Amino acid sequence: MAINWFPGHMHKARKDIAQIMSQVDVVIEVLDARIPFSSENPLVPKLRGDKPCIKLLNKSDLADPAVTALWVAHMEQEQGVKALPVTQKNPAQIKNLLQVCRDLTAHLNLEARSIQAMIMGIPNVGKSTLINILAGRKIAKTGDEAGVTKAQQRIKLDSRIVLTDTPGFLWPKLTPPACGYRLAATGAIKDRVFEYEEVAAFLAEHLGRHYPQALKARYGLEDIPEDEIELLDAIGRARKCVRKGGGVNLQKVSSLLVNELQAGHLGQISLEMPDMIEIEQKEAEQEEALKAKEKADRDQARRARAKKNRS
Ligand code: G4P
Repeated sequence: MAINWFPGHMHKARKDIAQIMSQVDVVIEVLDARIPFSSENPLVPKLRGDKPCIKLLNKSDLADPAVTALWVAHMEQEQGVKALPVTQKNPAQIKNLLQVCRDLTAHLNLEARSIQAMIMGIPNVGKSTLINILAGRKIAKTGDEAGVTKAQQRIKLDSRIVLTDTPGFLWPKLTPPACGYRLAATGAIKDRVFEYEEVAAFLAEHLGRHYPQALKARYGLEDIPEDEIELLDAIGRARKCVRKGGGVNLQKVSSLLVNELQAGHLGQISLEMPDMIEIEQKEAEQEEALKAKEKADRDQARRARAKKNRS
């Protein structure tokens, strides 16, 4: 199953952001350091044009530091992009963002007016927490449910920087399909739109391959089964997620694994790496091309049949 999640109000949010972008000097995109690609909105490059962009890899306390370093290097290959790993556990690091905003807009010679920054990010990525740290006070949360122009708010961060906050929004299509699972696993997509078992199976496969030691340490497993369902079974037995008859309760162990990952109980875990995404994107493109070809073949066959029937 591919997870698709795009409530109607998100369309309006996108239109509104395109409108206000014209008045913005620097874009701050808040990403989840565990899933920097999946939590990135593919519309942002289109919406921001050549404006400088700061990609904040937030919740870096939960991500694998070695993988985060790979993402920083990967993202900074893009013109005008500065990538910074941050965590609410280190407020001084977050406050450094103000200086980065000044540096990235220095070439615009904005002495006569304040720097206009816009912050955006998907729901639950930690945007409100960041804004509160930057502003040094609690700012009312910008609602995710309303249109941007109504819900956006402008916050003075210091004498020179004004921040426009926008409601969190996701994008129409989550491709490659694994992005949906990663968003669900990290808590960006609410559990009413996905099946825990599917997300947990995806997670078990990833953790078994990339973080076997973390699984062994957390669940006291001696070996890590290659098959993800067998792995969930082993975790279920270790955690006594069993039914009356003795079989593992898959639903229970699935939500346990997802919740433990979200709480950081498995240690610092990243769910995607730059090279992994490149492969997935190629596979998704190939699949799309195959589907398009199959459709073209079907259309051609239909036209040929219709022609034959007419003659
Ligand atoms: P949003 O505005 O983007 O929707 O996100 P918000 O700031 O409300 O943060 C969503 C959740 O992420 C909160 O947890 C928050 O504490 C957590 N969070 C934010 N930044 C970080 C970070 O750097 N590291 C970690 N580990 N967590 C972070 P919550 O459980 O939903 O709320 P709460 O109980 O903490 O208030």
